[in-house]
Amino acid sequence: MNSNWVRALVLVVCIFPVLVECRVRNYKFNVVLRNKTKLCSTKSIVTVNGKFPGPTLYAREDDTVLVKVVNHVSYNVSIHWHGVRQLRTGWADGPAYITQCPIQTGQSYVYNFTLTGQRGTLLWHAHILWLRSTVHGALVILPKRGVPYPFPKPDKEVVVILAEWWKSDTEAVINEALQSGLAPNVSDAHTINGHPGSVTNCSSEGGFTLPVQSGNTYLLRIINAALNEELFFKIAGHTLTIVEVDATYVKPVKLDTIVIAPGQTTNVLVTANQNSGKYLVAASPFMDSPNITVDNKTATATLHYSGTLANSPTTLTLPPPQNATAVANKFITSLRSLNSKKYPTKVPLKVDHKLLFTVGLGINPCATCKAGNGSRAVASVNNVTFVMPTTALLQAHFFNISGVFTTDFPGRPPHVFNYTGTPPSVLQTNNGTKAYKLSYNSSVELVLQDTGIIAPENHPVHLHGFNFFAVGRGLGNYNPKTDRKSFNLVDPVERNTIGVPTGGWVAIRFLADNPGVWFMHCHLEVHTTWGLKMAFVVENGKGPNESLLPPPSDLPKC
Ligand code: C2O
Repeated sequence: MNSNWVRALVLVVCIFPVLVECRVRNYKFNVVLRNKTKLCSTKSIVTVNGKFPGPTLYAREDDTVLVKVVNHVSYNVSIHWHGVRQLRTGWADGPAYITQCPIQTGQSYVYNFTLTGQRGTLLWHAHILWLRSTVHGALVILPKRGVPYPFPKPDKEVVVILAEWWKSDTEAVINEALQSGLAPNVSDAHTINGHPGSVTNCSSEGGFTLPVQSGNTYLLRIINAALNEELFFKIAGHTLTIVEVDATYVKPVKLDTIVIAPGQTTNVLVTANQNSGKYLVAASPFMDSPNITVDNKTATATLHYSGTLANSPTTLTLPPPQNATAVANKFITSLRSLNSKKYPTKVPLKVDHKLLFTVGLGINPCATCKAGNGSRAVASVNNVTFVMPTTALLQAHFFNISGVFTTDFPGRPPHVFNYTGTPPSVLQTNNGTKAYKLSYNSSVELVLQDTGIIAPENHPVHLHGFNFFAVGRGLGNYNPKTDRKSFNLVDPVERNTIGVPTGGWVAIRFLADNPGVWFMHCHLEVHTTWGLKMAFVVENGKGPNESLLPPPSDLPKC
């Protein structure tokens, strides 16, 4: 048989990739509009295949995934596979104008990537405008066939997607905010697998139900797909055993509440070991900055033991208060990577680049911002408010197109001040499309320091193209002399998205072993929009498999 025939055969057999042993998984994402009623009002939303949340994509470690995305809506679209390393395949990463031009109306693009050395729960989402509010879904990477989980095999696995719902169109929400210069309206409800639950006064609104069998253990693959809210998650009367975050195994920890930031994922085991009945599942916001408004509504779902009568009462639970920093910290500080023989923790021990980036807000003049009194809220990294280019950075890098970006992103804050104390007198930021250059295989220690400009706030920062190790964390200003001594270089948690604590800092380390252009930004969409984003350019290495591959022929054009 010639190779085209073999390929065609594989494509046909692999339409049901989970059932058959396939190394290639084919998916088709039709981006379409549909009407959806929630909170007693109907609006038109952008979806994948008409679903909200979108379809779950299943694959195994080492599989190649091909997703043909066809754009049938009037917006430009791109899809990001959040947490997929994309080794040498940055063209499939997805952030619009960073690694690709978006897919225009009527056009399509095949995302083609291999899941090397990764297994666990990740998410995919639109990476342009605010479309990810409704264009998101789970990406489940199963271990290689025959390889067990490093924890007892669950009886069943369930994807649990947390999100936010606005009654009005989310593009209108952010556009209005950008015109006024003020913060956008907060959402009208949170959702669990698409349902807000009992919080609303809409009698038609049901909540998500998770049927359980007494004595069975469930693996919940929890994803925060919200735009702007970190969320607490708990289940009345049941303990959560955390076994994985961001598709990396952790030492199991038992807690009753977890906190999960937009872009993060957490796998927990739950055993149905309580009396038969119904138990409330709650997702509520975590915000410990006093000056920031959030949507304070709790989304609810129900754990329903089989055999329970429909009208039996639900065992309730109160979610932690919005500002429960201690509850959040308990979860965050308990996480350690598994660091087993099979899954060793490979923290870079020597450091080539020691970087300090401030992350926070600012205020810039805006002549047309009437509501904002002639100024607008902005956000920055090291005081640079990132300006989106009109040519994708990766193309500019690969084809040597000049004038798209510069590589003078500062490795330290341009002005040294008491970052978490009284703000400086000048709150203005600089605009620029700047990247920081790293040579292949260099090791990076990056301290992300929150600033209190306007308000100190927790920023969940996401790095594309890499996992990193969270080696240190503290409050106030980072002090290299004293704080470095306490870094955990043995079993720090490995993630792709990390919360910079309100009024504090985190230190991460990673090895720049993936050539390409990699976006880093706050995963609160409002802060990304305001400019809390930058990019790393990782140069090619000299070895045979150390260069960025050439772009696919169907790469969208700007
Ligand atoms: Cu999940 Cu750049 O994003």
